[in-house]
Amino acid sequence: MHALPDEAADAGPPALRLPFDMAVFDHRPLRTERMVLRPLAASDADDVWEYQRLPDVLRYIPWPQRNRDEAAEHTRLRAEMRRLQADGDAVFLAMVLTGEPSLREVATGHALPDRVVGDLMIRLGSLQHAQLEVGWVVHPDFQGRGLAREGAEALLDVAFGRFAAHRVYAHLDARNAPSARLCERLGMRLEATLLEEEYDDDGWQDTAAYAMLRREWRRLRG
Ligand SMILES: CC(C)(COP(=O)(O)OP(=O)(O)OC[C@H]1O[C@@H](n2cnc3c(N)ncnc32)[C@H](O)[C@@H]1OP(=O)(O)O)[C@@H](O)C(=O)NCCC(=O)NCCS
Repeated sequence: MHALPDEAADAGPPALRLPFDMAVFDHRPLRTERMVLRPLAASDADDVWEYQRLPDVLRYIPWPQRNRDEAAEHTRLRAEMRRLQADGDAVFLAMVLTGEPSLREVATGHALPDRVVGDLMIRLGSLQHAQLEVGWVVHPDFQGRGLAREGAEALLDVAFGRFAAHRVYAHLDARNAPSARLCERLGMRLEATLLEEEYDDDGWQDTAAYAMLRREWRRLRG
């Protein structure tokens, strides 16, 4: 049997190319113009702590304020999530800025020229319907340089290209203007605003639901 040409596959039934194991990216990390995107590791905890502890970063993410040990444990747990197979599974890629000294040197005594400045997530929303969710966090010192966009574009390429997602979506706190701008720069569409979907210290919050279809991604990528 011949594989369906890609255009026809868009209209055909969902066909996610899963399961996926992060060992693939251990061996062959993704490379963008300025970064290496490779599986998040427990040893990244010091770099991750530098952004995970900041109230500005946490403002619109449903993460609690963790102390350093709790944050290291959180990074360890996320690093252990290395398989996409069942709904709810997630994997995390460290955004490694080459040439930027890692904060791990504090622990190791060596200057490691590979700082983790943010991380990217892919979560399996629905295996049955080929739906993947994406997410991103970047250290404020490294925001406003297009790094989030560079990493997120590579993430969409993986989601649509390697995994053959039919639809990729991002759900954000509707007040999160930088993340909404990023979605729009990526070509994602605001499909809905879910009213009072989450509750936080400031009360009920709306969620902005952004998404892109595989055929839209293909058009964008030429
Ligand atoms: C959401 C988030 C990742 C966006 O990061 P960001 O730095 O604003 O995004 P980018 O890297 O794409 O930077 C874009 C900005 O840099 C500018 N820029 C500078 N150099 C650039 C370049 N080479 N390429 C593209 N943009 C560049 C752009 O003009 C753009 O500015 P604008 O938004 O005013 O138009 C960041 O705000 C963040 O980590 N927030 C906290 C965590 C969070 O809320 N995550 C999302 C949960 S849903």
